[in-house]
Amino acid sequence: MSTFQGSPLSEQQFQQLSSFVAGLNRDQIIWSSGYLAGIYAQVSQSLNEQNIVQSSEPSNNTTDLQVNASDSVSEKILTIIYGSRTGNGEMLAKRMEQSAIDKGFKVNLQNAATYKAKDLQNEKNLVVIVSTHGDGVPPFAARELHEFIHGKRAPKLENTTYAVLALGDSTYYHFCKAGIDFDVQLEKLGGKRLVQRAECDVDFEEQADKWIADTLLAFSGPAIEESKPAPKYTMISSQKSGNSSVETVRYTKKNPFKAAVLEKVNLHGRGSDRKTIHIELATDKAFDYQPGDSAGIIPVNSVALINEVLETTSLSGDTLIDANGKRLTLREALYSEYELSKITKDVVGKYFIYCPSPKLKSLIDNQEQLQKYLHGRDVVDLLSDFPTKVYAEDLIKFLKPLQPRYYSISSSPLSCPGEVHLTVGVVEYQNAGRTKKGTCSSFLSDIEVENEEVPIFIESNPGFRLPEDNKTPIIMVGAGTGIAPYRAFVQHREELGDSGKSWLFFGNRHFETEFLYQTEWQEFLKSGALTRMDVAFSRDGDDKKYVQHRLLENASEVYQWLEEGAHFYICGDMKFMAADVEKALVEIVKNQASISDEEATKYVDNLQQEKRLQLDVY
Ligand SMILES: Cc1cc2nc3c(=O)[nH]c(=O)nc-3n(C[C@H](O)[C@H](O)[C@H](O)COP(=O)(O)OP(=O)(O)OC[C@H]3O[C@@H](n4cnc5c(N)ncnc54)[C@H](O)[C@@H]3O)c2cc1C
Ligand SMILES: Cc1cc2nc3c(=O)[nH]c(=O)nc-3n(C[C@H](O)[C@H](O)[C@H](O)COP(=O)(O)O)c2cc1C
Repeated sequence: MSTFQGSPLSEQQFQQLSSFVAGLNRDQIIWSSGYLAGIYAQVSQSLNEQNIVQSSEPSNNTTDLQVNASDSVSEKILTIIYGSRTGNGEMLAKRMEQSAIDKGFKVNLQNAATYKAKDLQNEKNLVVIVSTHGDGVPPFAARELHEFIHGKRAPKLENTTYAVLALGDSTYYHFCKAGIDFDVQLEKLGGKRLVQRAECDVDFEEQADKWIADTLLAFSGPAIEESKPAPKYTMISSQKSGNSSVETVRYTKKNPFKAAVLEKVNLHGRGSDRKTIHIELATDKAFDYQPGDSAGIIPVNSVALINEVLETTSLSGDTLIDANGKRLTLREALYSEYELSKITKDVVGKYFIYCPSPKLKSLIDNQEQLQKYLHGRDVVDLLSDFPTKVYAEDLIKFLKPLQPRYYSISSSPLSCPGEVHLTVGVVEYQNAGRTKKGTCSSFLSDIEVENEEVPIFIESNPGFRLPEDNKTPIIMVGAGTGIAPYRAFVQHREELGDSGKSWLFFGNRHFETEFLYQTEWQEFLKSGALTRMDVAFSRDGDDKKYVQHRLLENASEVYQWLEEGAHFYICGDMKFMAADVEKALVEIVKNQASISDEEATKYVDNLQQEKRLQLDVY
């Protein structure tokens, strides 16, 4: 800045401003620009008010300001709402916030979990970034908003211009369904779609960045008039996101901590045909986690599977290729960069470019057959079922980037400082004549305790938390590895001391071999850290008993605990267990309170809204 020509400032003012700005770093400049924009908004508003009062004496200054304002992006409030579970959507929303601020927008960044749905009708410029979880449903954080826009109270959005970025994983049948729902429904409510919805798969970075740039450009187009006053400062809401621990964690998916393995044991007894491992990792002080959080683990593929891929394609592992921006040998790329253990519709579609066989075409054209084929098939199956000549560079063009896997942390930072414990069900099954192993669970199960490290980062899970009041009773329901966060909960409450009642419902297949952490629970019961425990082992008796049956058998007391304010937790299998437990809960409330099905469902919905019913299911 060496000139003040064209500026309305005096030379002295200009020099003061220049020397002030010269001493600022990037963040201070961004904050200051927001501060000035806030002051400008106030001045502009008060000049407008004066102008109305003194309408017979129009002021040239005021007119100038108004003309500038209507041309300027800085007058636009862009509301970015994100609904995220494992952090991808939140990261993109924050990235978009920064980019928008850099372009001069005022940004109102909102976590869908804490966003007041009634404000929707006031939004002029709206971006929704939402992932899909469960079987095609929004993440827990966005469920209420999703319900609200589909419900009777949904507002008319004729004054809203919007854009939706959907995150998903094409492995799932309902790819990006939640984002599609938002996009379609906002339009039905009268909103004007500004740009086409982005449907981002797991390798979303490039597509998302382009969409963000295009969308901001579209929003900066001809001014859309603002009706509500600008907020005072531009940098509104990162802190309000309700997910503050994400910001304090230094280690991320891109920069994981390499944790040494302290211990690894199989929790199943001798004779079990399955394996669940307990693994203890040594972490760094920067691991700021709470009971209920998950750990993201970045796995590598097994050497055995890589060899099978190389054999099937007759490719040399030593061929050098460019993979995800790195110069690697094919073997290295297959080790750390790409998914080999599962294939998706997208992978098969891309493979067709290299293998245009009629047999593959007819599979692709039959959605039902394709879904059946994909279940349990891996890259080796695809390459051998539809053989063709592929080169090393081709291979990596149709494979998906290797993704982290998430595990509910089974330790409390109070009782195990500097450690993260995980409870991992090891995936192994037979399919299409071969033994298949889950990438990450096998990586953890096979890891050499002395010599290898585990890349780990923390994924905050604010939707699964112990009650703030330590005296509030808790009911914890989980099957299999769903027990993991409850070990953390009970350890934590024991450390805090003087805690409320706690009741654990646990289910697995066999009492003798699959009672995970049995001796620890017995100790907790003895010490009083755990008040009650009821178990269901489904394959021990003639009639199968699951956790929901134990709940129903104890209906009167479960209801009493709820009436005393208990928080109710469900963790583990999403497809069957979670739905069955929720059904049992409605049944219990209906019978114990002698109310209708509808009223009982409302009772359970209210529990969820009050955050007294919390789920961590997968
Ligand atoms: C928030 C969250 C918390 C979680 N917490 C835990 C936890 O505490 N403990 C835990 O063990 N897991 C947990 N999981 C699941 C975990 O993240 C992984 O999905 C799991 O370990 C499998 O990963 P993998 O890499 O071993 O298997 P992958 O290589 O991803 O393979 C899994 C795939 O194999 C296929 N498959 C599996 N079994 C069969 C079969 N019998 N027949 C045909 N196909 C089959 C399916 O397509 C499946 O998607 C959690 C997930 C989430 C999202
Ligand atoms: C348990 C679980 C279930 C999922 N279900 C779906 C699904 O049904 N459809 C889909 O497109 N993606 C699904 N995904 C993929 C996520 O939408 C995808 O990983 C996304 O990038 C997550 O974004 P987030 O971190 O903002 O939540 C699922 C992921 C998990 C962990």
